[in-house]
Amino acid sequence: MLVKLETQPVESIDAALTVTLLTPETLASHPKKSVLEQAGFEAKEGQTCMLHEGAEYVAAVTAFEPDALRDAMAAAAKSISGFAYESAKIAQYGLENAAALVEGIVLGSYKYTRYKSDAKPSKLKTFYVAGANYDGSALDADALKTAVDGAVILATATNFARDLVNTTPDDMVPADLAIIAQDLADANDLGCEIFDEHALEEEKMQAMLMVARASAHKPRMIHLSYVPENPVATVSLVGKGLTYDSGGLSLKPSTSMVTMKMDKAGACAVLGIMKAVSELNLPVAVHGFVGAVENMIGGNAYKPDDVLFARNGKTIEVRNTDAEGRLVLADVLSYAQDNVEADYLFDYATLTGACVVALGPYTTGIMGHSSALKHTIYGAAERAGELVGALPFNPHLKKALKSEIADVSNISNIPYGGAITAAMFLDHFITDGMKEKWMHFDIAGPAYTESGWGVNPHGGTGAGVRTTVALLRTLAEK
Ligand code: BES
Ligand code: ZN
Ligand code: ZN
Repeated sequence: MLVKLETQPVESIDAALTVTLLTPETLASHPKKSVLEQAGFEAKEGQTCMLHEGAEYVAAVTAFEPDALRDAMAAAAKSISGFAYESAKIAQYGLENAAALVEGIVLGSYKYTRYKSDAKPSKLKTFYVAGANYDGSALDADALKTAVDGAVILATATNFARDLVNTTPDDMVPADLAIIAQDLADANDLGCEIFDEHALEEEKMQAMLMVARASAHKPRMIHLSYVPENPVATVSLVGKGLTYDSGGLSLKPSTSMVTMKMDKAGACAVLGIMKAVSELNLPVAVHGFVGAVENMIGGNAYKPDDVLFARNGKTIEVRNTDAEGRLVLADVLSYAQDNVEADYLFDYATLTGACVVALGPYTTGIMGHSSALKHTIYGAAERAGELVGALPFNPHLKKALKSEIADVSNISNIPYGGAITAAMFLDHFITDGMKEKWMHFDIAGPAYTESGWGVNPHGGTGAGVRTTVALLRTLAEK
């Protein structure tokens, strides 16, 4: 489906269906008020009404503000793509809401159909967005175009990340993820370096290699780079790319293993962000690093009791092979810091079930040393319409990672605070100079949904993409 920005007001756009957003206040002056009220539509939260005569679809919003519009448009786009209309149109509801409105359309009409043999493509081909507000007032045309184009890029990049997350583990092994990254680099003129298992050996990335050892599919590290002329800042992103997490010898129970194709969502977010920043031409240099590995069982699997030699020289006692993401990230974080001098370092990972327990399934846990950076991220997430919550480090939890035989244990020796101890494990692989510039994003909760919520249908959500792009935009302005 194409989103097309028109210059005229909504009334003069030629489209099969008109979509209207109404609050209880604007319902009062709507020409079809009485028929809507007869149908029980009071513009209460979540209400919609399809008036086939006159071809108008109305949806309630609590207020004309970005979050409400994004969600309402996502629900509307999903619902009307099931009808027979080939085109739809909608007015603007203020310049400040234009991006969210378009994001809602693109995110809400997303459907993953790769494995459906009878997938029927949606009849809705074009969604026109007007050049003026619903009340007829004019808008700055250039600013509107920038907002709409940016929103299409951002939401499409989010859908790209969703597609990757949704791809089944047999169709997306580490080498496949590397091919996707290479294709993205070719299409968007990015730098791209792929490290196979031999190159990883040369880099002494034994922690990552040990996680990968029992898999028939060899690991890859991916380094994509977007370097515009005279960048105002340099940012490194690191993504956990477990194309499947069986738990390894500390095998997951069968019900927990289902959905573990999503354990590559951090990597997919990084690729989605790379796509977005390069298409938005942001004036920030962005390096995306991905550790792509499959965590399996087998005769040569790494074991609880093994001690691993990480790239940065630290030794790690393995006490649970299901705490594998942090081992992969340890080496990739180390590589990223040694090879790119960055102003900021962010990592994205479906790292712990404990983060989902702590914050619920809708919220990303952010962890790191800098309060200022956390506040900047709060602001970015709020603008992007994603949820984040900070979980604080403390010295008592740090002690829980002590190992009697190695420098650090890969799991905590207490059963609580698992999201924080995982992040504090990663902290062992952050250099002193980068401590204040680093933030860890645990996306285990929001990266994947089996029930759908907000702008997210079943499956991968692209969590982290929108917040990070908002954050990079903020950093670009600083
Ligand atoms: N990939 C999982 C974390 C996860 C759990 C992501 C649920 C999404 C939903 C991770 O590798 C893992 O298994 N973590 C363990 C850590 C534990 C062994 C310390 C966990 O959370 O149970
Ligand atoms: Zn695991
Ligand atoms: Zn995992």
